[in-house]
Amino acid sequence: MKCISALTVAITLAPLIFGFSVVQAGPPAPIAIHSVSVELPVSRTEFPPGPGSDLSGKCLICHSASMVLKQPALSRAQWTAEINKMRHTYGAPIDDDEVDKLSLYLAKINADQQTH
Ligand code: HEC
Repeated sequence: MKCISALTVAITLAPLIFGFSVVQAGPPAPIAIHSVSVELPVSRTEFPPGPGSDLSGKCLICHSASMVLKQPALSRAQWTAEINKMRHTYGAPIDDDEVDKLSLYLAKINADQQTH
């Protein structure tokens, strides 16, 4: 009984296995690659003025201001950590003596945003 069922399975599957492999053996269908055009939204969000805003342009080298302005409430220490992450992980060209000024600016505009 076991032998019959194994044979039945083999007979049933054979055409499937060999049938498919014969179908797939032909030349692969050509892949057509077309150029597409996409329009990405332009971010018009700008950093607000204030002491330290002159350095904020450095944050725009890699991403929009919204990446910075849409953050939840962060402390100055957290902004310092964020700036250092940008410097050390992503290579942001921010000097040691600019970190304090920037973190003060970012903490202030971030706090202003939370109250509006
Ligand atoms: C050298 C490139 C570069 C510069 C310059 C840069 N960033 Fe970033 N930043 C990144 C990358 C990459 C990410 C991660 C983006 C993602 O996850 O999609 C990021 C993400 C962020 C985020 C989102 C939270 C996070 O940690 O992923 C914040 C906030 C941020 N950056 C703040 C800043 C600020 C503030 C400045 C300027 C002081 C700055 N960045 C400058 C590359 C940069």
